[in-house]
Amino acid sequence: MTRTLGDAGREKTAERLLKSSANKFYDPEVDIDWDAPLVEGKRFIPEERSSLYGTELWDRLTPEQRIELGKHEMASIATNGIWFEVILMQLLLKEVDNGDPTTSHAQYALTEIADECRHSTMFARMSNRFDCPHYGPVKWRHRLARILPIIGYGPALYGSILVAEEILDRLQREQMNDPQIQPLVRMVNRIHVLEEARHVTFAREEVTRRIKGMGKVELAYQRWMIAFVSWHICRSLINPHVYKAVGIRPKEGYQAALNNPHWRATLLFSGEKIMPFLDEAGLVGAPGMRLWRSAGLLPNK
Ligand SMILES: [Fe+2]
Ligand SMILES: [Fe+2]
Repeated sequence: MTRTLGDAGREKTAERLLKSSANKFYDPEVDIDWDAPLVEGKRFIPEERSSLYGTELWDRLTPEQRIELGKHEMASIATNGIWFEVILMQLLLKEVDNGDPTTSHAQYALTEIADECRHSTMFARMSNRFDCPHYGPVKWRHRLARILPIIGYGPALYGSILVAEEILDRLQREQMNDPQIQPLVRMVNRIHVLEEARHVTFAREEVTRRIKGMGKVELAYQRWMIAFVSWHICRSLINPHVYKAVGIRPKEGYQAALNNPHWRATLLFSGEKIMPFLDEAGLVGAPGMRLWRSAGLLPNK
């Protein structure tokens, strides 16, 4: 593969990101004290970020149960995070395989894969530390996502990655300095936020680059695709089985969360940084608008 002048900007960004990766990265195996006991009475997510906060079901829970639910919700978000990262790693590997592996762009893709390997291990360890079952996505959604590398390409693919990364980032930023939150969770969030900032730069530039010169029909497909994937991302964050931990039937809990204006506000908050970017890039529009609203990333009309 020959390099063109158009690749110059891409290479420059990759070089900068490679430098930053070499200067600042964490190894959760050694940078986190996994043996430290959890702190009694501290939360795992802020109360108002719990999917049932403010509902009738919430009112029936004791303060201990509310903390317990938050722990399981955090484990669900973390294990869904592993799922997102595993898909992303596959896409990045494909990118390296399809291109020139000696470019800085490919080298950075490999570096990002290395980051995500450490993150997924970190999320898995955290879930184990909480003694939570493996949540992740529900089975049918897990299977459905296998078609993503086949039907997804172009700006929607990188855009979807950004949605997953940036909505988690927004929530983690809010929580990483909150003294009410378990120190272990804060440290995990801090590590993730620091390293994701580079991934966001990388993916944002790819979105902008790949959308250029796209025809109307293709653009419509890209708009639908990213809205469709983002809808699934938002619906998967809280696995319905988390509610069993506090004696609530999964279906009942999940339905209550879907109808909960507080949970909707949380989703809207999580999308506040990425949605204006995607909108400006031209990826938010028909035929995806209903899906964006249903996902909770845009307000209802
Ligand atoms: Fe990550
Ligand atoms: Fe990432």
